[in-house]
Amino acid sequence: MSPHSREPAVLVEGLVKSYPGRGTVLDGLDLSVAAGTVHGLLGPNGAGKTTAVRILSTLLRFDAGRARVAGHDVARNPAGVRERIGVAGQYAAVDEILSGRQNLELFGRLHHLRLRHARRRAGELLERFDLVAAADRPVRHYSGGMRRRLDLAISLIRSPQVLFLDEPSTGLDPRSRNEVWEAVRELAGAGTTVLLTTQYLEEADRLCSRISLIDGGRLVAEGSPADLKSRVDGSLDDAFLLLTSAGAHDGRAA
Ligand SMILES: Nc1ncnc2c1ncn2[C@@H]1O[C@H](COP(=O)(O)OP(=O)(O)OP(=O)(O)O)[C@@H](O)[C@H]1O
Ligand SMILES: [Mg+2]
Repeated sequence: MSPHSREPAVLVEGLVKSYPGRGTVLDGLDLSVAAGTVHGLLGPNGAGKTTAVRILSTLLRFDAGRARVAGHDVARNPAGVRERIGVAGQYAAVDEILSGRQNLELFGRLHHLRLRHARRRAGELLERFDLVAAADRPVRHYSGGMRRRLDLAISLIRSPQVLFLDEPSTGLDPRSRNEVWEAVRELAGAGTTVLLTTQYLEEADRLCSRISLIDGGRLVAEGSPADLKSRVDGSLDDAFLLLTSAGAHDGRAA
């Protein structure tokens, strides 16, 4: 385990990011994720969730503020961060022509695993995500759910300390979604910290010990699912609608 196990696995202070022509997307975001927990990053479309995840996983630069992941500064030591994280994106990045097994082995090699180790790890992950039967078929023949599962498997190729999951279960049928939930629980049980974004509030309710609700690139509420529900004396959907501008567009929503 990390010598910094007391330090939050993800620590974000006053994070600012603008896109040219779009303006400010993250407007002083604060976020703290305790090590070994599943933490939800929730908010309306365009709130800045994917932007935050891409910054924390070193795929995108930021303009101001501070971000540390797995004990390393994201701006000063992106390589140190990269070694300790896994990312599964809102848009999967698998090679269509290669098979699932070949994709896994390729990513293992890209992450500097020896060939034998990469092969063994690919085999384990194919089994874990129920992809053995399809392992040697090209990914272009996979269903949406199979792609998601493969994407998740790829993010775990190196047993990351911190795992970023951007909408891991979007577009999945209930069975596949359950499999993803099971995998997330197992990972957290084994000590991996998971930061996940989702639009499924039930998913956040079931999986996350804490939730950060963001809107307009800022933190608007934070707490356990029970805390957030009790704040609005309702469901997590009610909390989402009352605490973010997502409910404002419909005027006086019932
Ligand atoms: N490369 C880019 N250039 C300009 N604007 C961008 C870029 N990427 C994202 N944006 C804008 O930044 C804002 C935040 O986008 P982001 O993808 O982080 O939101 P999100 O919370 O993940 O939304 P969703 O729930 O729809 O996935 C949006 O208004 C989006 O249009
Ligand atoms: Mg997004």
